Amino acid sequence: MRVFVAGASGAIGTRLVPQLVDRGHEVIGTFRSPGHAARVQALGAQPVALDLLDPGAVRQAVREAEPQAIAHEATALADLSDFKHFDRSFHQTNRLRTEGTDALLAAAREAGVRRFVAQSYASIQYAREGGPVKSEDDPLDSTPVPAMRETVAAMRHLDQAVTAAGGIALRYGTFYGASNDGLPEPVRKRQFPIIGKGGGVSSFIHVDDAAAATMLALERDVAGIYNIVDDVPAPAREWLPVLAEVLGAKPPRRFPRWLARLFAGEAVVMMGTESRGASNAKAKRELGWELRYPSWREGFKAAYGSAAPAARREPDAAPRAMKGETT
Ligand SMILES: NC(=O)c1ccc[n+]([C@@H]2O[C@H](COP(=O)([O-])OP(=O)(O)OC[C@H]3O[C@@H](n4cnc5c(N)ncnc54)[C@H](OP(=O)(O)O)[C@@H]3O)[C@@H](O)[C@H]2O)c1
Repeated sequence: MRVFVAGASGAIGTRLVPQLVDRGHEVIGTFRSPGHAARVQALGAQPVALDLLDPGAVRQAVREAEPQAIAHEATALADLSDFKHFDRSFHQTNRLRTEGTDALLAAAREAGVRRFVAQSYASIQYAREGGPVKSEDDPLDSTPVPAMRETVAAMRHLDQAVTAAGGIALRYGTFYGASNDGLPEPVRKRQFPIIGKGGGVSSFIHVDDAAAATMLALERDVAGIYNIVDDVPAPAREWLPVLAEVLGAKPPRRFPRWLARLFAGEAVVMMGTESRGASNAKAKRELGWELRYPSWREGFKAAYGSAAPAARREPDAAPRAMKGETT
């Protein structure tokens, strides 16, 4: 199958392209930053420079690539640092999830591409009431905190537009294991506190497992929404101390909600205290997906422990300041 991967140079793209190539697929991989062509080529894909926010260029790129499937894995999160002004920080990513998705869907329609898979996100979409673990059919948050309204709306737009077109929206968990992973550094620096009782639930996913699920979604003749998360949704009070220990850091600090709100803002407080996790039962059942890291407990050790590649154990060369980040 010829697969067009938008965002081939990113956290998922760099894991997805080699898996697709290994399975015998031909991949056309797009990048945005000058200089990333070589990265995409080295993964085994044909590199194409593309700005997803230019609908004419998207049409042309898809038409020329003649793909049978499209994966939309483009975000703009590499320099994320300000979680207090959440929507402002996610503005470009939100555009990629709305305008970018619409442009790719229009191009897919025009070129007769039937298979379409796009990147969404799980935890912050689900209603902050009822049980701690949500399935794809559970109600969504009807009153997102004001600081993240646009971001939640953009995810919802993507989910609706893609599934209405017969495609698949993958609600991924929080990624870990990417080469530019921003999770460990603030935990090492004790800038990632447990807020209140630390009851906000996160669902994690190792980027290799996320890419494997994405490949299956591209290959299977299915449609709809799938949570792509590990088996063990966990509250911050549980996973944060474990991650700190794996990293050899001191235990996380504890902040009352009011103090965290002051420093980190309401989005961070919500994620640390109220957010819900997600169930992967549907993805396992319908995609035949098997996880290499079913629990973040093993995954964190593999990504950050003493057996992990040295580059992952050290802070990034250009670390993202994520003071107070909770997902
Ligand atoms: N669910 C999650 O928890 C989640 C989701 C996404 C990202 N993240 C984290 O955020 C960090 C950064 O993610 P990332 O490495 O994937 O980088 P990123 O900057 O978010 O870029 C992702 C991909 O989108 C492309 N892209 C950016 N702007 C574009 C545009 N206007 N048009 C077309 N393509 C565009 C990038 O191209 P270039 O590389 O050429 O710029 C790259 O291929 C990582 O640590 C990752 O783990 C987490």
